[in-house]
Amino acid sequence: MRVLVVGGGGREHALCWAIAASPLCDKLYCAPGNAGIAQEAECVPIVATDLDGLVAFARSNRIDFVVVGPEAPLVAGLVDRLESSGIKAFGPSAAAARLEGSKAFMKDLCRQHGIPTAAYATFTDPLAAKAHVRSKASGCVVKADGLAAGKGVVVAATVAAAVAAIDGLTHELGAAATTLVIEELLVGEEASFHALVDGTTVLPLATAQDYKRVGDGDRGPNTGGMGAYSPAPVVSDAMAAEVVKRILKPTVTAMATAGTPFRGVLYAGLMITHEGPKLLEYNVRFGDPECQVLIPRMMSDLLPALVATRDGELAKFHLRWWDKAAVCVVMATTGYPGAYPKGSVIRGLDAAGSLPDVTVFHAGTARVDDDIVAQGGRVLGVTALGTTIRGAQAQAYSAIDRIDWPEGFCRRDIGRRASA
Ligand code: AMP
Ligand code: GLY
Repeated sequence: MRVLVVGGGGREHALCWAIAASPLCDKLYCAPGNAGIAQEAECVPIVATDLDGLVAFARSNRIDFVVVGPEAPLVAGLVDRLESSGIKAFGPSAAAARLEGSKAFMKDLCRQHGIPTAAYATFTDPLAAKAHVRSKASGCVVKADGLAAGKGVVVAATVAAAVAAIDGLTHELGAAATTLVIEELLVGEEASFHALVDGTTVLPLATAQDYKRVGDGDRGPNTGGMGAYSPAPVVSDAMAAEVVKRILKPTVTAMATAGTPFRGVLYAGLMITHEGPKLLEYNVRFGDPECQVLIPRMMSDLLPALVATRDGELAKFHLRWWDKAAVCVVMATTGYPGAYPKGSVIRGLDAAGSLPDVTVFHAGTARVDDDIVAQGGRVLGVTALGTTIRGAQAQAYSAIDRIDWPEGFCRRDIGRRASA
């Protein structure tokens, strides 16, 4: 099978790492990839949002199966375009990707089908939104509708902070913020719940948890994710069954009934409250860095699972997992999530990757002559397996200590929450 993976982050490195090892894969391409992915796949310089370029490449290179990593091309309809050109593709249609692409769509679906989520109201007029938050005694969460690269959400502890957030988002995001979703502030522990969905069947993956804040102790601004671990002890087997029954299954049934069946990875961001699990958000692709802990724990071959998802054949499918924990620590360029320089040289990657049970996934890297240089905010995902979270954590940090990159930083407390 000739396979193309679309994207160039740590998630796509983990996907390529697993797909390259599949006996079903004869040739693997990645667009655009990165310096680490280049060890697993032939990288082609087409960006993930260049739909015309990707479809043309897949046609002219006789690609049998395309795996789309990031949300932007899914929301823009890449899978629809590929499938209508006769190329099989893993990921939801644009209509199904609205579960992530539009918070208002997701919240309306929850309301219609009784899916547990934070209470909410939607506004197109910022003045009406402000009047609404002033009518509440306490804080709330202000979200911009549409994709905003993780920047469109403000958790406001007080009414004054909520009003400031409405002003801030309206100015910052312009058109993307014309619809604001104001939510009840939920309290609890967060977890990432991923499942493969083939239109009707929901096949849960292992549980995971990520770290969104930039600094140790969950301080500082939100990021795309500074690390992750799996499994997430907060999600017991009974809780997982409840999440499938009360959240994922009704969603998948509603999407199929509406004529827009969901196929791909459905990733529910959950808040485990004292009233049980509630849906914070849906993502229509693997989480990143969660993907970097889920895939190394998967014993089964990933590629046939992705093909069965596309083909609507998950009902008879079983996935096997290693009975091990995984921890991924993200290394980012100093300055992230704000402005950061590009081009600093990273050394010691071979020494780090040669430790037992360690894989260094690349996110924002490029090769310049013989050097690996940092090209992005999040640059590396140093992942280790262990018999316990604590063991995996120790091994991941041993690997990090072998990486010589003065311009980089990481959180020092990834996994501590689960191993305490
Ligand atoms: P979202 O992109 O909607 O998942 O929001 C990003 C982050 O904001 C989540 O991971 C939570 O940490 C936080 N968040 C979002 N919605 C709520 C809510 N209703 N209550 C509390 N925290 C929230
Ligand atoms: N780690 C959070 C995300 O991928 O959205």
